[in-house]
Amino acid sequence: MIIIKPEIALLLLFNSVIRSLSSSTGHASEKYSHPLCNANFNADPVFPVAKSVTDVTQLFDGIGLPDGACVFNPAVVHVAGRIYCLFARVYQATEPLRRCKPGYLDRSPFLDGWRGRSTNILAVLRLRKRSDSRQLHAKLLGYSYLGQSNHEDGRLFKDMHGRVFVYMALPLGTSPERAVVNTVSRVLIRCIYALNNCSVSLGHPRLLSYFGSESVMDKNWVPWNGTAFMSYSRYGTLGPHSIFNWGSYDEPTFHTGFDAVAEDSVFPRFAAYYGKLMHLSGGSPAILEEGGQSFLAIGHLKAHPGCFHPEVTPAWANMSSPNLLPGVQNRCAHLAQSSNASQKAEELREAFSFGDAASIGVHYPLDYAFFFYRFSASAPYNMTHISYGFIPYIGGRAADHTGIVFPIGLERFGKSDYIITYGDSDQASKILLMSSVHVNAMLWHLSKIAERLDEYVVCALPCHGVPDCMQ
Ligand SMILES: *[C@@H]1O[C@H](CO)[C@@H](O)[C@H](O)[C@H]1NC(C)=O
Ligand SMILES: *[C@@H]1O[C@H](CO)[C@@H](O)[C@H](O)[C@H]1NC(C)=O
Ligand SMILES: *[C@@H]1O[C@H](CO)[C@@H](O)[C@H](O)[C@H]1NC(C)=O
Ligand SMILES: *[C@@H]1O[C@H](CO)[C@@H](O)[C@H](O)[C@H]1NC(C)=O
Ligand SMILES: *[C@@H]1O[C@H](CO)[C@@H](O)[C@H](O)[C@H]1NC(C)=O
Repeated sequence: MIIIKPEIALLLLFNSVIRSLSSSTGHASEKYSHPLCNANFNADPVFPVAKSVTDVTQLFDGIGLPDGACVFNPAVVHVAGRIYCLFARVYQATEPLRRCKPGYLDRSPFLDGWRGRSTNILAVLRLRKRSDSRQLHAKLLGYSYLGQSNHEDGRLFKDMHGRVFVYMALPLGTSPERAVVNTVSRVLIRCIYALNNCSVSLGHPRLLSYFGSESVMDKNWVPWNGTAFMSYSRYGTLGPHSIFNWGSYDEPTFHTGFDAVAEDSVFPRFAAYYGKLMHLSGGSPAILEEGGQSFLAIGHLKAHPGCFHPEVTPAWANMSSPNLLPGVQNRCAHLAQSSNASQKAEELREAFSFGDAASIGVHYPLDYAFFFYRFSASAPYNMTHISYGFIPYIGGRAADHTGIVFPIGLERFGKSDYIITYGDSDQASKILLMSSVHVNAMLWHLSKIAERLDEYVVCALPCHGVPDCMQ
């Protein structure tokens, strides 16, 4: 998901040290967390909340993964009953001091320059919700450590025959001479229910060939569960919604173009307004919604950190709006309004910290968030709805988060809830549980978003009835 050259990582560390030496005591403003989502940010007058966030990273402790491995970006698919399959990334830093440690999120692989070993794990879990707890209870029933090579992020889904597949963008080479090859592979799962014991393995890859793009970094495509369709990931703009029909995943058809394209004017307008200050792209697979008329998916939003953390407001924005209030804010309109085209096109590749010795260098140079979107299940599959950006509220100060939450899985949980699996800080695997009523309430019709582009926010989604989702 994130590639940073070693020299940039060193620069990041160096800048952090400089800042720690030059910063005095922190401002009170640094104590604020990202602003909580509230009813004003919803299409319906519902106060949006999650039910819980469950950290499942510790399931992978003591099973023979490399020492100090980070396990993150877990894809998910439902297998049967309470059984789910996960596919996650595993990273072991070269330097022992930078290795992951349970309970800590300050060991970002990017701070290690991604020079360590990247591998993957397939796992089968039983997930249930006990009536006396908000969190999910997860038990590991089996796993397969794919320790030979790096498959990066996978997306799990079922094809039209109910068979489990994983979509992967396999990396080739190292940056800058780097490309990805898009594939699908069967995931074979066998369970002996009486023994709570499952075996899971990866089948042979099949190529998803698309020769219409100049980008050699094509990835984050969006499989539509229960079909042989995928959305092509348009970096930055999300639209036009561009669709492949692979025919079947046994013999995916060769593509030089798309099988359907549908555009809505909000996407070019969003892109023109924000440029790369805030941009939208694919995240999880899409799943059919109740009624069968539409698909729901989660995208990932990347943003200039100065959108939300005034401490890192670029100089040009300070010059045009010198009276910017300190504190964490929830929108990016101030940067969009004060920037010109070249400033909007610039992606931030510079370190920053929050001036607090305890959190130096933890934040990634960009902020990440989730958003929901919906598209029609009939041709040409127009997108119809989108939510504002949100991050799970896991407490603490804004300075305590690293800026990276990456949505990778979406599944149903029971009759009326969804689970969203995501990677936290490239170090942990988490599951956000949310009711479909709240998901629906967060979705705005595209025409409504078009009217309020400057109000597009990123907020922290609280958990119902508790001060912090991890409780
Ligand atoms: C499942 O059974 C296999 C073979 O008997 C055994 O090696 C493995 O440890 C068991 N796995 C679990 C999670 O109990
Ligand atoms: C995914 O697709 C399969 C059909 O292969 C279907 O049985 C399952 O219910 C779908 N999952 C969701 C969440 O819609
Ligand atoms: C759906 O997309 C098509 C193709 O871009 C477009 O012509 C049509 O107007 C769209 N329909 C709606 C309702 O937006
Ligand atoms: C812009 O202003 C903010 C708030 O006053 C400050 O923290 C930040 O360092 C400034 N940015 C630059 C590049 O000077
Ligand atoms: C954008 O603004 C900067 C000054 O902040 C200026 O140097 C640059 O030439 C401008 N670029 C364009 C394309 O207008």
